[in-house]
Amino acid sequence: MHRSREPLPSPLPDVPWERIPRHIAIIMDGNGRWAQARGLPRSEGHRAGAKSVRAVITACKPLGVRFMTLYSFSAENWTRPKEEIDALMELCVLYCRAERDSLVAEGIRVRWIGDREGLPSPVRDALEDVEQATAHVTGPTLVLAINYAGRSEIVRAARLLAQDVESGLVCSSEIDERMVASRLFAPDIPDPDLLVRTAGEMRVSNFLLWQISYAEIHVTRTLWPDFAESDLHTAIRDYACRQRKFGGLPDPLASSRREPC
Ligand code: IPE
Ligand code: IPE
Ligand code: MG
Repeated sequence: MHRSREPLPSPLPDVPWERIPRHIAIIMDGNGRWAQARGLPRSEGHRAGAKSVRAVITACKPLGVRFMTLYSFSAENWTRPKEEIDALMELCVLYCRAERDSLVAEGIRVRWIGDREGLPSPVRDALEDVEQATAHVTGPTLVLAINYAGRSEIVRAARLLAQDVESGLVCSSEIDERMVASRLFAPDIPDPDLLVRTAGEMRVSNFLLWQISYAEIHVTRTLWPDFAESDLHTAIRDYACRQRKFGGLPDPLASSRREPC
């Protein structure tokens, strides 16, 4: 039995806590291929993928990961067949309704990034409802990127800045990175440390283009519906072995302190 103030043992005891990423962003890819391999409709792949979302949330919490951003529907995904889009939208509503109370109980705060105007109102209402219901909790934050496109996010920030220049609030010569970053969808959330992509594709598909400038990238061939706690642990172990330099030189003290990978 653990006393209430004693921390529980880490599920990843070989990774020191300071090497756990604070923010993990995931491009959840491969639902269609998962379904196709089983002779099922693509919508079944998306349903199976929703179960992996739950598994990852549950696995992140005891590790001390503070932010998870999940790429759930891109602005480019509107080019898919209507049937598939309808299934994805319905799944989003069902997911928000089904998970709302357990997210509140577990203290997981939900945020939504993306174009709010462009979503059908039942989906927007369901997302805003779960955002509001969890707004007060203090645990990790789950950011859902839905109807999201990285370039559009930067264009939107540019437009907001231009409005502030026009109204005299900002002088164009003063514009800096901080001013752009503060006009992104979730300016208070730190940039991802680790970007995971499932299903093997080596591209970022218009995801968090501004925020991933120095993220470490881990690509796994595992399809998203098969992604389990062990895959998350593999990604974090991989990240923990990386030497982040941010354009500088490696810190010799840091490398001598690190466990061999
Ligand atoms: C990711 O899986 C989910 C969404 C983009 C909504 P895909 O549907 O892209 O799966 P594949 O890439 O076709 O296997
Ligand atoms: C990226 O996956 C979008 C999401 C995971 C929501 P896609 O399957 O849409 O990306 P591409 O088309 O392979 O680049
Ligand atoms: Mg895909």
